[in-house]
Amino acid sequence: MSSTANSTGTEVLSCAGLGVHYAGSVALQSMDLTLRRGRMVGVLGANGAGKSSLVNALANWSRGDATVSGRVRLDGRDISALAPHLRAKAGLLLVPEGRNVFGTLTVEDNLGLVVPPKDRDGRFVLSLAAAYELFPRLGERRRHKGMQLSGGERQMLAIACALMAGPKALLLDEPSIGLAPMLVVDMLERIRTLVDAGLSVLLVEQNAQAALKVVDEVIVLERGVKTLEGSAAEFRDDQRIAQAYLGASEGAAK
Ligand SMILES: Nc1ncnc2c1ncn2[C@@H]1O[C@H](COP(=O)(O)OP(=O)(O)O)[C@@H](O)[C@H]1O
Ligand SMILES: [Mg+2]
Repeated sequence: MSSTANSTGTEVLSCAGLGVHYAGSVALQSMDLTLRRGRMVGVLGANGAGKSSLVNALANWSRGDATVSGRVRLDGRDISALAPHLRAKAGLLLVPEGRNVFGTLTVEDNLGLVVPPKDRDGRFVLSLAAAYELFPRLGERRRHKGMQLSGGERQMLAIACALMAGPKALLLDEPSIGLAPMLVVDMLERIRTLVDAGLSVLLVEQNAQAALKVVDEVIVLERGVKTLEGSAAEFRDDQRIAQAYLGASEGAAK
């Protein structure tokens, strides 16, 4: 793995007043957030809280008939007007909920399709060899087609593809879905090792207990509104918060 992502702690991705509406119903309202280099921010919230609407709007990949408002900045540049593929090219990479891999292509062909960035400045770039090192299971299954993989293996493949494309910021929408409970923390910890090496990640997770083990900061969404934010340590230590927000998934990550 190689990273030219230096100056840990500087802002890499932010949004201000981000809103998402679907034909009259509001999915996300006046959302502000900042992701710093080499950090992982967790977006927590119940089903329907607006988590996917948030990351999709950041990447400009909104589903259906969404109206998006507000500003998005990547690495000091306002990208609010950029089309989805240009945001990806600029280093804002989304692994969407339900993951996207080519079912009729093998693992190695899926990885082979990724075009590494020409300009590595400020990016975290994973080599093919490092991708197989990160997820050895992909190496074992390199000649299997996407559709023959388990949900967890497809998730690993989608994440590996995004990392090889050289993210400045990586948006992960529920990467633990489809994984056996035992593997959830393992997956999140592997991602954490990359964050410690300079990657910047916005992690959407319904499994709050698992997310709290790896993130630096937490944002809680309720019905499209940010109701709480703070350091992961505060969330781990505050029983009141733990009960109010995390009680429902207690035990899920154990
Ligand atoms: N394409 C869509 N069309 C209409 N409403 C949608 C669409 N996608 C999401 N919504 C609604 O927006 C709200 C937030 O959804 P979502 O962002 O998917 O939440 P989460 O990811 O937290 O489960 C929900 O009420 C959902 O029903
Ligand atoms: Mg979602």
